Amino acid sequence: MAPHDDSTAKLAEETMVAETVSKPISTVVIIIAMQTEALPLVTKFNLVEDPNSVFPKGVPWVRYYGTYKDLNINIIWPGKDPASGVDSVGTVSASLVTYASIQALQPDLIINAGTAGGFKAKGAGIGDVYVASDVAFHDRRIPIPVFDLYGVCAKRAFSTPNLLKELNLKVGKLSTGDSLDMSPIDEKSITANDATVKDMEGAAVAYVTDLLSVPTIFVKAVTDIVDGDKPTAEEFLQNLIAVTAALDQAVTRVVEFVNGKCVAEL
Ligand code: ADE
Repeated sequence: MAPHDDSTAKLAEETMVAETVSKPISTVVIIIAMQTEALPLVTKFNLVEDPNSVFPKGVPWVRYYGTYKDLNINIIWPGKDPASGVDSVGTVSASLVTYASIQALQPDLIINAGTAGGFKAKGAGIGDVYVASDVAFHDRRIPIPVFDLYGVCAKRAFSTPNLLKELNLKVGKLSTGDSLDMSPIDEKSITANDATVKDMEGAAVAYVTDLLSVPTIFVKAVTDIVDGDKPTAEEFLQNLIAVTAALDQAVTRVVEFVNGKCVAEL
């Protein structure tokens, strides 16, 4: 009996995957860590804040939702940290909202959009928008065989050859950590990850979407040059508004491209 059961289960799973990739994308979740980055898109897509949160009582996470063309669009912003009042940036909030959004909304596609530091040695400039080909962590150092690989958690991003060709966006590897600055030891890991851009959420979102098999696109716009001569925080704040406009334009173009397609066509 066992071989029959196994092959039946495998066939059922393959059929389910085939059906999922070949049905038009309907529900899209866009995860954005900063309110400044999220609000122009909320306006662009005519979204409204959900008055009856799909998230547990007490969390600061905010969902903006609405329909745009054939898509149910949800922008998820992790909200303001209750203790400090600032945006809940970083990997902890990113993984939590990703998990909760998938549970509540069962999206066909996730887009993680945000700003990033870029490496000029890898060709990045202020205002460039990248789609990540790969994601990994740079601040989870566990120097024990195999645990080291678990820590880095390197993954290929969902492949979107048609989208890349059509939208002409830059492509590079993304490295994620919980600090805006870069310590010398982080720098070594980022170099080992061969990263062009550095953020604070991508690999955490990828960890969850990989576990739950949700196709995910990472769109990252460069606010500061990590290997440049300006202090990172200063350069980031100086460029945030202008670069957010480039980010939001790129996300809009991604959404326009996604509309009416199935994930296999991306
Ligand atoms: N977001 C914008 N700039 C960043 C940087 N230098 N590091 C991490 N996340 C960022």
